[in-house]
Amino acid sequence: MASTLTPLFMRTAVRSACRALRPTQTRAFSVAARKQSDTLMVHRNTPDNNPDIPFKFTESNEKIIAEVLKRYPPQYKKAAVMPLLDIGQRQHGFTSISVMNEVARILEMPPMRVYEVASFYTMYNRTPVGKFHVQACTTTPCQLGGCGSDVIVKAIKEHLGIKQGETTPDGLFTFIEVECLGACVNAPMVQINDDYYEDLTPETTKSLLTALKESVTDPSNKDKVPAPGPLSGRHTCENSKGLTNLTSEPWGTETTRSDL
Ligand code: FES
Repeated sequence: MASTLTPLFMRTAVRSACRALRPTQTRAFSVAARKQSDTLMVHRNTPDNNPDIPFKFTESNEKIIAEVLKRYPPQYKKAAVMPLLDIGQRQHGFTSISVMNEVARILEMPPMRVYEVASFYTMYNRTPVGKFHVQACTTTPCQLGGCGSDVIVKAIKEHLGIKQGETTPDGLFTFIEVECLGACVNAPMVQINDDYYEDLTPETTKSLLTALKESVTDPSNKDKVPAPGPLSGRHTCENSKGLTNLTSEPWGTETTRSDL
């Protein structure tokens, strides 16, 4: 018995000694960054956004919805969920839970499927926004282009007196920062509701916001709001220095093939 136990004891002792001599091995323990906001994926009932608030599409929007649904085979009408959510948001001001439930009812799909779409795409505002939804692009080309988006964001915050994600007390402006809006060649730019304003400077940004506010307080000022597009005088995205190439007369077909 002793002869069988002794080697076992010795083996255990040797193993323990080796373990003690080995450098301590540690494995880094990491966790995902703590979420700062659950706005995008969680719905909480609030007085202005809960399922008890009735929502119905207007008669004119019902006609538009009927037109939209004609684009899809009847068995796939749930594919119209995005345009219907958009119509609902335009009518109601934001994509409330009642808007989503009504879209689910019309398209005969589980409400959860509609919530999934609405919470995935950031263009659906699931909380109320101001009359003017100011979305400043802060992706790299807008950060580097022109005066840079940093100073535009600073100008907006200073002028409106709000931070990112907030709405002015008069309910006119909501400001957020967004990723590339596809107008990088006219950077920096902001989207306000459906319109793009480009080639911005802090001065043009502030006067744009002032003009928008005055268009509400006095509708006769509506025509003072600049037309969407570049506010630098450019027509679209042509070279601001004017033509620098292709300046000679274009060759006619007879000159290019004069050898024939
Ligand atoms: S980076 Fe701003 S529009 Fe593309």
